[in-house]
Amino acid sequence: MTSSTTPRTDPELLDDLRADLTDAAFGVDEVHERLGDLAAAALGREQVLPARRAVAGATDPLGVLIGCFGLGLPTAADDLARALPRTGVTGAVRLGVVEPHGAHVVATCDLRPYGDDAGHAWWVASDPTEHARSEPLPVDHVLGIGGASTTLASWTPRTRVARALDVGTGCGVQALHLSGHADSVVATDLSRRALGYARFNAALNQVDWDLREGSFLEPVVGEAFDLVVSNPPFVITPRSGDVPLYEYRDGGAAGDHVVAALTQGIGAHLAPGGVAQLLANWETVAGQDWRERVGAWVEASGLDAWVVQRDVQDPAEYAELWTRDGGHLPGTSEHDALVGAWLDDFASRDVAQIGFGIITLHRPTGERAPFVDLVEATGPVATPMGPTVAAGLVARDRLAGLDDDALLDTAWRCAPDVTTETHATPGASDPNVIVLRQGGGLARSVRLDTLDAALVSVCDGDLTARQSLTAISALLDVPTGEALGAGATLVRRLAADGLLLPE
Ligand SMILES: C[S@@+](CC[C@H](N)C(=O)[O-])C[C@H]1O[C@@H](n2cnc3c(N)ncnc32)[C@H](O)[C@@H]1O
Repeated sequence: MTSSTTPRTDPELLDDLRADLTDAAFGVDEVHERLGDLAAAALGREQVLPARRAVAGATDPLGVLIGCFGLGLPTAADDLARALPRTGVTGAVRLGVVEPHGAHVVATCDLRPYGDDAGHAWWVASDPTEHARSEPLPVDHVLGIGGASTTLASWTPRTRVARALDVGTGCGVQALHLSGHADSVVATDLSRRALGYARFNAALNQVDWDLREGSFLEPVVGEAFDLVVSNPPFVITPRSGDVPLYEYRDGGAAGDHVVAALTQGIGAHLAPGGVAQLLANWETVAGQDWRERVGAWVEASGLDAWVVQRDVQDPAEYAELWTRDGGHLPGTSEHDALVGAWLDDFASRDVAQIGFGIITLHRPTGERAPFVDLVEATGPVATPMGPTVAAGLVARDRLAGLDDDALLDTAWRCAPDVTTETHATPGASDPNVIVLRQGGGLARSVRLDTLDAALVSVCDGDLTARQSLTAISALLDVPTGEALGAGATLVRRLAADGLLLPE
């Protein structure tokens, strides 16, 4: 099954539509308020019934637009005409955002407001969601804004850049964010339909992108960028067993090869100082650590790498997730056949776990060996994470150029969001567990021994780490060389994640 055409970009009609959506207050906060907390939260979980009830019989412009474009409800043509007075039903049909059905119209796309923390407000069109269709998705489905889109948007540093690239732009959600801080944006996709939506969204939101059709990095051969973002089609999909190959999630290769190839290939397109931010899934073979596999990819890139594994699933959980994502629900023979195909595929490579994470790559500006940092952080993290990623890259870049002597000769202070937590056995005079906790960023917690705790307690930017450790070693009766070695390791680790800052 494939889909129909995408909306058209008639400039005059788009001017009308933009003005109508503005007048109807079709914005993120207003839609939330119109639906109420309960329905808005349910919609966030893709449960549409409360939202349908909230706008049932609505004739106010905002309620009509939510019902028509957000929920895919058949809408009385007269109501839509009142909600879009300039565009009119005729204009909406000409734009290709609705189709007439007698006295009603039905949206041909999902259209919703979207924004960022910097105060940008946009509208984003994509294919109707699964609940608006009530049937499994077609393979050329163009995805709207989902959890993966907002995760990547959150983790992307928003430093001002000259040239930015979005690989696999889909409806253009990442490109919208890039428009806020990049002088020029190139966006690529293999899907002509996705590029159709991206073109429509760019025009509706009055931003200018260089849209290019082609596979991954092929459309930008020989070009370099300051920032590359990609929420690629990373879903590991069996190549047999009649499993649908959805364009939005399948990159056309077995296992996790799509992400491996992108990670290894991106270096050719990063300018000095440039950053690439990718979402990824990776396979972990039984008995292996995930760091071995992902570490080999990032080493082959020749770039600095900072990889955060955020979650893991076993093959059955993964199969269930992506079978449901395509609209195949448990209890059907199709569902069981698909889950079986996934299990066979993973078993053929002895895969025990699938990791979900974020890969950040960076090209150093000077000559030095690349740093590689592969960590797990499965709990809640700061929102947005972009400032933490930007600060973490600066810290790691600096640390990569500091040998242990230089590190020890620096005065360090604890970041303002860092606290210590002590635990003692009842009745004990001294704590037996001391934990350092980071309030923001990756929300790190680090268990400290007595020497570590003593060092951190005097990190107020006054003494250098060497001065502090020399005094602490005498106090604790530890050989100074040993204390300096252990202290340097701790400072390096805490400074990389922003728990310690150089004075
Ligand atoms: C998961 S969607 C991401 C969409 C959007 N960037 C976001 O963040 O939500 C992946 C996108 O990659 C595109 N894609 C699939 N195979 C591709 C390929 N070989 N080269 C470039 N893009 C591809 C799909 O059409 C889809 O738009």
